[in-house]
Amino acid sequence: MSGPNTDYDPVEVAAVSPAEVEAARDAALAAIAAAADLEQLKAVRSDHAGDRSPLALANREIGALPPQARKEAGQRVGQARGAVNQALAARSAELEVEHEARILVEESVDVTLPTDRDPVGARHPLTTGAELIADIFVAMGWEVAEGPVIEAEWLNFDALNLGPDHPARTMQDTFWTDPADDHVVLRTHTSPVQARTMLTRTPPIYVVCPGRVFRTDEYDATHSPMFHQVEGLAIDEGISMAHLKGTLDHFASQMFGEGITTRFRPSYFPFTEPSAEVDLVCFVCRGVDSDACRTCRGEGWIEWGGCGIVNPRVLQACGVDSSRYSGFAFGMGIDRTLMFRHGLEDLRTLFEGDVRFTTAFGSEL
Ligand code: PHE
Repeated sequence: MSGPNTDYDPVEVAAVSPAEVEAARDAALAAIAAAADLEQLKAVRSDHAGDRSPLALANREIGALPPQARKEAGQRVGQARGAVNQALAARSAELEVEHEARILVEESVDVTLPTDRDPVGARHPLTTGAELIADIFVAMGWEVAEGPVIEAEWLNFDALNLGPDHPARTMQDTFWTDPADDHVVLRTHTSPVQARTMLTRTPPIYVVCPGRVFRTDEYDATHSPMFHQVEGLAIDEGISMAHLKGTLDHFASQMFGEGITTRFRPSYFPFTEPSAEVDLVCFVCRGVDSDACRTCRGEGWIEWGGCGIVNPRVLQACGVDSSRYSGFAFGMGIDRTLMFRHGLEDLRTLFEGDVRFTTAFGSEL
């Protein structure tokens, strides 16, 4: 039988020897002092005060020591751990203060510094586009006319030879105001401005009318329930289709460049007779080798709008002497014209108010 091992010398348990404990403590204190920021201190804490740190391991050894050695070793290890924890807390507080001070300096904003950012904004391409169109006509001696977007049904339809039962009334899907028997619409085209002009003026009349129009269309890349049209009306003695063609050819070449002319295809509008669809020479391929052209899809021509000789019934409804005067009228989408002119892929970019889109056009006057 063997008795208790009274000769056991706790100094021989390496981890709790005074030298080892002192070395572990000093290493910890040195590392804590050297930690330059909170991130580094976190690593130091785990290395020197964490579960696997030398002092934590030494602490575990204490239980295995004979009772008489435990107290002294416990004190030694406890003191060392206490010193390390205190140093950690003190350094952490110091680094915290430094961190905050640094943020204040590094992230401060000097609001008095001069700035090189000077956003000037831009005019909307629809505004400048409508002005450009108006300018082309003003240069030919025409006037610009405007009218209300909330319009009498009679001016939007009836005066333009679109009576209540006219089948073409359904060609334009209309927004009606409430109640319906007020007979008020959001104008479906700028043509009521023609009617208003003829009713209030005496010929000769040469007016161009840009403006917003409304139809119950879906909102997608090529349609919008609100879009813009420009309408032209010339009433004078002896006006013919030849004047219309010459005017539109001039308009097209001013808008899209020299050599861009138009062609007419027979069509129908209640307010003009005869009527035509106007096409533009494709301004990308110019009708040459159009097979490969993505803009006109091989046509060589691009649909632009409608036109014709003002129907005498419209002249009569608007108080113009149709035995003396004749006239021509045309209308096209401004948005569509600008899409062609600037190569825009999606109509919606014109309406969504993104300043990055608008500034790309600059502030052209
Ligand atoms: N107002 C017609 C439309 O919106 C276009 C047009 C105007 C056609 C003038 C002929 C003459 O469809």
